[in-house]
Amino acid sequence: MAAIERDFKRSVIYQVYVKSFCDSDGDGVGDLPGVTSKLDYLAALGVDYVWLTPFYPSPQRDGGYDVSDYRAVDPLFGTMGDFDELVAQAHRRGIGVMLDMVLCHTSDRHAWFQRALAGEERFRRFYILRDGRGSSGPGDPGEPPTNWQCAFGGPAWEWEPRLGKWYLHMHDVSQPDLDWTNPEVRRACADVVRFWKERGVDGFRFDVVSLISKPEVFEDTPDGSCRRLVADGPHVHEYLQELVAQAGIDGMLTVGEMAATTLGNCIRYTRPEDHELSMTFSFHHLKVDYADGDKWALKEPDIAELRRLFRDWQEGMQAGGGWNALFWDNHDQPRAVTRFGGREGAGERGSSWDRVGKMLAVLSFTMQGTPYIYQGDELGMANAGYASIDAYADVESVNAYRLLVEGGASADEALRIVGERSRDNGRTPMQWTGGHAAGFTDGKPWLAVPATVGKVNAEAEDGVEGSMLEFYRDLVRLRHDLPVLAEGRVRFLDAGAGAPKVIAFERTLGDARLVSVCSFDARACTVDGGDLALGDGYRRLAGNYDDEPLRADDGSLALRPQEAVVYLQ
Ligand code: NOJ
Repeated sequence: MAAIERDFKRSVIYQVYVKSFCDSDGDGVGDLPGVTSKLDYLAALGVDYVWLTPFYPSPQRDGGYDVSDYRAVDPLFGTMGDFDELVAQAHRRGIGVMLDMVLCHTSDRHAWFQRALAGEERFRRFYILRDGRGSSGPGDPGEPPTNWQCAFGGPAWEWEPRLGKWYLHMHDVSQPDLDWTNPEVRRACADVVRFWKERGVDGFRFDVVSLISKPEVFEDTPDGSCRRLVADGPHVHEYLQELVAQAGIDGMLTVGEMAATTLGNCIRYTRPEDHELSMTFSFHHLKVDYADGDKWALKEPDIAELRRLFRDWQEGMQAGGGWNALFWDNHDQPRAVTRFGGREGAGERGSSWDRVGKMLAVLSFTMQGTPYIYQGDELGMANAGYASIDAYADVESVNAYRLLVEGGASADEALRIVGERSRDNGRTPMQWTGGHAAGFTDGKPWLAVPATVGKVNAEAEDGVEGSMLEFYRDLVRLRHDLPVLAEGRVRFLDAGAGAPKVIAFERTLGDARLVSVCSFDARACTVDGGDLALGDGYRRLAGNYDDEPLRADDGSLALRPQEAVVYLQ
């Protein structure tokens, strides 16, 4: 079946976290045949591509992002035959398949690392190995080479006696970083990408690819954090261009996960003339509720900051000729509907859950870029916030809980924080029905189903007017039907002093003008009419209330709590 080629500016992408999407064999873990069995659901939603998170052999220390073999399917998720069938069935429905390439690090179970441990010099050079500080010579570890901390808590260096060196792991200790200065590593990674391309896939997502080019000098940082120091490193653009050329994927749909990146670099990653990527994920907008930049310190989302970030990135990427990936959720994020104020009335129309879920969707689908739906967003799936730390599986969450308690937080406080911030909130089983295990498995799900499942599930929402699912279907249709949404220019609008929690912008293409107004305010507020410039010729295209907000003679809009409204000229 021919590969799917579609203009990425007009596309909508759906992310499947395979482990939690649909279990076909009752072992409690989602699998590839499970995904295939739900392709009709995805076709009915109207998405163009499905991105599958890693299903390769893995010890699963980090949810499959610790890959021990890049060219196979973990028996937990099925067989290569199941994979081929999934691709064929997706293509039959006009849906492209994107794979996750985790090429910044391997698992320590990967043959490359095992061969390095066995002393093969060729494979020792695949990893980033250093002597310790103050070491008196071979066999004496000394101190870690730098004070860098890994993403999941604790040092980013591990002493390995079999290597006689410290190895760098920016993530879990079981995820040694690859040394991309080694041309053989770069070729091996390109071969992996080519292997899957030749197997018929249509696009790729590159995991933490902003971190592949390490700084020339490794030095301590004031607080031990190293992501910013490592991100967008000296050779990252050159390595990406080489990867794209060697793997033969120029022109395919690609997205890079850009940890700790900058706007200027995201422009360079995505402007077509550089032949790197189609688009980038950046994460600054998902830190607006981190107190002092600390994920594990809670604060209310700062909407003024959110607006500033969106404006800078939207207008900045446009000016530089780059392209954004638009998203709120993924398998690393708590659910945005909970996070941004939709805490009450899950599954009920008119509740804050309903308003916020739809308002966030309007923002994603009306800004400039390619919208991503993370599984369950379209149903309004909410945070699980489990009652016990034992219910959590994620390595980062379990470590964070321990570090919070060691740092003096009470067990209740640590649990509350993890309940808000854990990645497991985004990894709970897909809610297909209100029945056993949300219809995800006949067995015991690997992670517990949230309590909201009774009203928030695909069966309850399918075909029901005004449901979250139908709202998403409408937005996907609009994205496909309206060129101004896919290609229009973007300009942020001033909502005025009476609307500090409102994000408003216009999209324009030729004669068409669309105005999107989204309020994060739990109270009513008034948006200035001046910049909105909604004349008589404007009609309401979409919104999360049944009717229009009141428009006064001076053009100002009286928005209701958490209202989103879109006008088209
Ligand atoms: C980003 C992935 O999305 C996340 O799940 C993973 O833990 C890290 N990269 C490391 O691969």
